[in-house]
Amino acid sequence: MTRPASTIRCSGCGHVADPEDPFPFRCPRAGTDDADHVLTRVLDLAAVRFPDGNSGEQDPFVRYRTLMHSYHAATARGISDAGYRDLVTSLDAAVADTDGRGFRVTPFFRSAELSDALGFSAGGGVWVKDETGNVSGSHKGRHLMGVLIYLTVMAQAGLLDPEDRPDLAIASCGNAALAAAVVASAGGWRLTVFVPPEADPVIAGRLSELQAKVITCPREPGVRGDPAYLRLHEELGRGAVPFTTQGPQNGLAIEGGQTLGYELVTDLAAGPGVLDHLIVQVGGGALASACVQALREAADLGALGRSPRLPRIHTVQTYGAHPLEQAYERVRALLPNTAGPGEPGPGAVRRAMATAAAHRSEFMRPWPEPPRSVATGILDDETYDWRAVVEGMLLTRGRPLVVTEDSLVAANELAVTGTGIPVDPTGSAGLGGLMEMRRRGEVGDDDRVAVLFTGVRR
Ligand SMILES: Cc1ncc(COP(=O)(O)O)c(C=O)c1O
Repeated sequence: MTRPASTIRCSGCGHVADPEDPFPFRCPRAGTDDADHVLTRVLDLAAVRFPDGNSGEQDPFVRYRTLMHSYHAATARGISDAGYRDLVTSLDAAVADTDGRGFRVTPFFRSAELSDALGFSAGGGVWVKDETGNVSGSHKGRHLMGVLIYLTVMAQAGLLDPEDRPDLAIASCGNAALAAAVVASAGGWRLTVFVPPEADPVIAGRLSELQAKVITCPREPGVRGDPAYLRLHEELGRGAVPFTTQGPQNGLAIEGGQTLGYELVTDLAAGPGVLDHLIVQVGGGALASACVQALREAADLGALGRSPRLPRIHTVQTYGAHPLEQAYERVRALLPNTAGPGEPGPGAVRRAMATAAAHRSEFMRPWPEPPRSVATGILDDETYDWRAVVEGMLLTRGRPLVVTEDSLVAANELAVTGTGIPVDPTGSAGLGGLMEMRRRGEVGDDDRVAVLFTGVRR
């Protein structure tokens, strides 16, 4: 085996995953102390370059393959570029057979209606990345397709016995579960889905149609935290493989989600050129973490120009639950209270994050009440991927926004009537955050802002 162009390393303790491990998803030291352990794919920046967006390649897992750990693992073991492409293409065909569509780069456009409604100038405006037509109707499949490709590479490399595979497992009652069921079924893997009692019966029915085993987990009095997530934990302890979209359970899932961020980078060249703000709705935080990491890598690889400027990355949560905003404020309190340009500096941010990540429970605390909101996809008790997201906000001078139910409803109405896209209230929550920032004068008329329409109305 030659040296792969990426490694999997824990951002909490520095543990490096064994390249022969077919399941390098969760840090073995997680849970042994109070540190925040997330296995993170780290690129060897000297060994890769940002792929050419003009290649005409429409499958993001093919277009951005040279940045993927599964590609590095495959080619280091003698699987050719053509062999890897065939593997991805045939998995994608199986996804299309199951869901009626495979993975294709998603649309990105300036919405004249939204830009006018929010009072932007002709030079500024609102750009929409539309994920509602993606596999299973949201961006979630991206996270899991990346994991499936990795598992398939491991099987092809002889490191995983296809006849003796463990079950996959996830805790979710919405888009992540649907995406997991489609992708697992396309790959021929058995999947268990843990759901709360309030799970939508239509979704539960679809999960069963896709051959997933659905287990309902009631809340228990006095027990904090999401009951489905707690049950998932037990199942993982018994050997199930985390097929989840939460970094602490499966760090490699973040990488598949990064395809969305890479697409944004390619889209920028053909569209607004530069983005001033990116506003991301946050539940567990994997989506925002993936965006932060993708943009940072693109900047490091020179894909955002010679003196790259990342957009300010803002997050949106609801008054129903905003554990990320609280964690952000606790980390912010560790930093000097200066607001000059470029403040706080990257060194200070990294030191504060290292302190916070070593004492996770003091910074990321589960939301004490069962959360409720019209944006049901962002009601996680905990922001599992808080560390990468808080750091991304601090480094780009973004902000954690908390929006009202009225704003979420108004944003959804504007999103649907303005663009004609049948986005759901979770999927348009970022627009709610933008409306709030415009009201407060925090986003200028000439600013270029991107929002992600992440889920379709069901
Ligand atoms: C449509 C939609 N958008 C955004 C999110 C938030 O993603 P994350 O949980 O990775 O923060 C979710 C999560 O379920 C979702 O379903």
